Amino acid sequence: MTILFHNTTFDKINVWKKTIKQYFKNEEIISIKDYKKFHDVNFAIIWNLPDQILPKLKNLKIIFSMGAGVDHILKLKNYNKNIPIIRIKDAIMGERIANYSLAQLLNYQLNFKIFQNSQNINYWSGERMPVDNKNLTVGILGLGFLGHYIARLLNKLDYNVIGYKKSQKSFKNIKVYTGKNIISFIKNSDVIISILPSTPHTYNMIDKNFLMMMKKNSCLINIGRGDTIEEKDLLNHLKKNKNFFAYLDVFKNEPLKSSSQFWKLPNVTITPHVAGVTAIESSVKYMYSIHKKFKKNKKVKSDVNLSNGY
Ligand code: GLV
Repeated sequence: MTILFHNTTFDKINVWKKTIKQYFKNEEIISIKDYKKFHDVNFAIIWNLPDQILPKLKNLKIIFSMGAGVDHILKLKNYNKNIPIIRIKDAIMGERIANYSLAQLLNYQLNFKIFQNSQNINYWSGERMPVDNKNLTVGILGLGFLGHYIARLLNKLDYNVIGYKKSQKSFKNIKVYTGKNIISFIKNSDVIISILPSTPHTYNMIDKNFLMMMKKNSCLINIGRGDTIEEKDLLNHLKKNKNFFAYLDVFKNEPLKSSSQFWKLPNVTITPHVAGVTAIESSVKYMYSIHKKFKKNKKVKSDVNLSNGY
């Protein structure tokens, strides 16, 4: 069996290659340059594969996404809906996402952005009273596998955690809102951490109306996908509301252009899509376990529900 590996975005690609070779000892690993071997490819381990490759992989059995998101696969014009997609569901990624969320939440809660802006102009801004954890309601928009890691960590630290989820599911200590209850979810959140996937349903979901329903001196942390935000509306909102903060890890177009207005706003913090960096060893081990299952049972269940779009 042959594996196609393709990723030109992630850090440590050589470690990825080495680890894949270590686990998949008996398989040949090829790149998109080895087009003569495309016919032998059964597994593809990919992130942002160019569109024209998939139809040439006539014997493809499983697509492994190298991250939690699968939008990079579903958007390929030639994706054959019968090929199962396996995404990374990894406790280390869960911990990383939860740590990132907590770090940005504390940045907001302890006024660090304001102190950083003061430091930039050599200004001692003086005391500011922080809000205590138990008095802060954090809304997690997208309470899936990873969202739940954030909720669990924040719960442990005494925050009041609420969540929004497409379909009803109950979680210990978390009030869950679904469907039309999004309005109550927004209004009851002091801070919103969005970890929504990119789907036709979530496209520009965080728009002018959404932002206007959020509390005035609130904060939006986006670690889901950039296209869930109507960026023009967010820019306007940030310009009008100087005490509203945005912590943005993802954008509609990445890398974010140097001309983007987001860079310059004093109430914005930008990170380069790093909230949930994929852990290499545990993820390859996970892919290997799925591949072994496939070899035994000749089938695997796709992680993607095509009608949900993620
Ligand atoms: C990162 O955005 C991922 O999908 O894992």
